[in-house]
Amino acid sequence: MVTQIGDKTNAMRQNNLMEAILSELLETRFNKIEHISETGSTNSDLVSKASELPDGSILVSDHQTGGRGRLGRHWEAPPSKNLLFSVLLHPNWPIERHQLVTPALAIATVEVLERLGLRATVKWPNDVMIEGEGEKKIAGILAEYVKQENPVLVVGMGLNIEWPQQEDPAPPNSTSLKACGIEKDRWKMLIEILKNFEQRLIEISSEKGTSTFRQAYTAKSSTIGNQVKVEKSDGDIVGKAIDIEEDGSLIIENENGTTSITAGDVIHLRKL
Ligand code: BTN
Repeated sequence: MVTQIGDKTNAMRQNNLMEAILSELLETRFNKIEHISETGSTNSDLVSKASELPDGSILVSDHQTGGRGRLGRHWEAPPSKNLLFSVLLHPNWPIERHQLVTPALAIATVEVLERLGLRATVKWPNDVMIEGEGEKKIAGILAEYVKQENPVLVVGMGLNIEWPQQEDPAPPNSTSLKACGIEKDRWKMLIEILKNFEQRLIEISSEKGTSTFRQAYTAKSSTIGNQVKVEKSDGDIVGKAIDIEEDGSLIIENENGTTSITAGDVIHLRKL
């Protein structure tokens, strides 16, 4: 095979970039990053390699042709505009805490967005929102559990960096850093998010850390205190979202009492 000089230069640039990123992440478990220009879905790629890859493996893609969202939805992003990545984790915490990886990544992202001066929140269970005139989604998270001899979790996030902007045809109520007037390199965002994510993963793996984690989760939640409708596979429930439990379940209160919800789509009806 003949290698073109341009290809070699690009490959060197790519290696230098990955080395620079990894040197920033030395104190974390994220010690293996692969960057590709296109794939179907970074989550699917890591799920298919679940038995081979070490804890903390990251896959970043410039473009996904079959990006996946929750509940079988499609996740859209034009090439090289947004941050699309997945992380593979070998969980070292009890199984009932697995669903905390989604809020762990959401809180990690909210903290980075706050440092950029944005009012960011977590909408239960997996959306990162920007508060302004109404709330708009800036990132979504998809966590998947691979049941095997050594089970793994794959958690992927799409964070809107440059797309959509006001004029773009895009999913309703979505926004991006650029639409919020912020120019920020997606690799720098990735590094900062992963550093925070590491701290939150340490919390969920320790007995003492879970209450600190829950405090952070409730503080960053835009769902608590709202009248909500939760769309669940076995029927909808309407009520006030009053709390989040240590395992990440949402507590809804209505005339029938309180209900603990582990999965569903939440619609914020109004702030109470
Ligand atoms: C959602 O809000 O429904 C979750 C969206 C998750 C999208 C990300 S993009 C990177 C990773 N790969 C995927 O196929 N999905 C996640």
